[in-house]
Amino acid sequence: MQTNKQVLTNMIVKESKIVAIFCLLILSLSSAAFAEDKVCFEAREGASSVTQKDIGEELKNVRCSDTTDGVLWWGDPFDGTQPMGDMPIEADYTHGEAVVKPRTTQLGLYPVCGLACHNGKFPPPVAADAPPRKLTMHTDLVPDALNLQHGKGGIWCLDCHDAKTRNKFVDNAGNLVDFNEPQKMCGKCHGQVYRAWRDGIHGKRIGEWASTGKKRWFVCTECHNPHDVQQGERKSGFAQLVPEPAPLLPKGMDNADHERHGSGH
Ligand code: HEC
Ligand code: HEC
Ligand code: HEC
Repeated sequence: MQTNKQVLTNMIVKESKIVAIFCLLILSLSSAAFAEDKVCFEAREGASSVTQKDIGEELKNVRCSDTTDGVLWWGDPFDGTQPMGDMPIEADYTHGEAVVKPRTTQLGLYPVCGLACHNGKFPPPVAADAPPRKLTMHTDLVPDALNLQHGKGGIWCLDCHDAKTRNKFVDNAGNLVDFNEPQKMCGKCHGQVYRAWRDGIHGKRIGEWASTGKKRWFVCTECHNPHDVQQGERKSGFAQLVPEPAPLLPKGMDNADHERHGSGH
């Protein structure tokens, strides 16, 4: 025979077990949701973010570093990419399949910059060679437009952005260039780097090894901030990344001084 008190404690124990299981369930569900929502960056922090997600059994599109939030490796180098578009010059590098990640998905203002704000009428278009003026907008992107960090004051917004079609860049011949192909605009002033990039000496590519294989090319703006190429400690075009911590020592080794431990092997 159980006393009322015993029945009550049993019930409480049972209930608290249920509550505990329920809590665990919520916890694991929410941590799964968090794991899925983990956002890390590829090359330029704050401007090349990628959301970690499952793309197969125990395979993620990217693996994010827990210490630096940088991407450590790609489970699928082609995830979220699209064809690169024409290469102006036919050469060896054009024979493989080339893809890029679109930049427009990374830019908060892109959806409005050709319509609501700069529809070609407002503000009244200025001549591309007009002298630079103090800006009232976009001071978050370019704190001091009269002293643009890129080019140390030598260049100006409309050397890159088209004066009328604000959601396009402009090349030397006056052709509009898509935001997803910044190389065609950057290349008009940085011809040597552009050539090196096309040849695969500057920048980065991931994907298939064979020269005719499919590769993802990283475009200029995935690494360089176009408005402040002086950012970063070296002030030379690339904000230095926080290094990953050193790898763990192999089992049985208590310090990294193995080359000078003098035990005779
Ligand atoms: C050297 C070329 C260059 C110059 C000069 C330049 N820009 Fe840009 N701008 C770019 C590129 C490239 C992008 C796209 C960046 C990306 O893909 O991350 C951009 C993007 C932008 C955007 C959209 C940003 C967003 O996050 O949505 C605005 C607004 C902008 N520029 C304003 C300006 C203003 C104002 C100036 C002048 C004070 C200026 N830019 C000068 C190259 C330039
Ligand atoms: C209108 C000409 C022009 C365009 C277009 C242009 N740049 Fe520049 N860029 C310059 C000038 C001028 C400098 C300063 C060079 C110097 O000080 O030696 C510079 C400097 C740089 C630097 C720093 C180099 C260093 O050693 O300090 C980087 C990186 C850079 N640009 C990248 C880009 C990228 C990426 C684009 C396209 C988004 C671009 N540039 C478009 C003119 C241009
Ligand atoms: C994968 C990243 C990456 C990509 C993509 C990339 N760069 Fe660079 N770039 C760098 C790094 C890193 C440096 C060296 C910065 C330093 O010395 O601190 C550099 C240096 C530069 C410099 C200055 C040094 C020099 O050789 O004159 C310029 C200009 C430049 N890049 C332009 C470009 C242009 C234009 C593109 C696209 C055609 C591009 N970069 C694509 C990472 C990249």
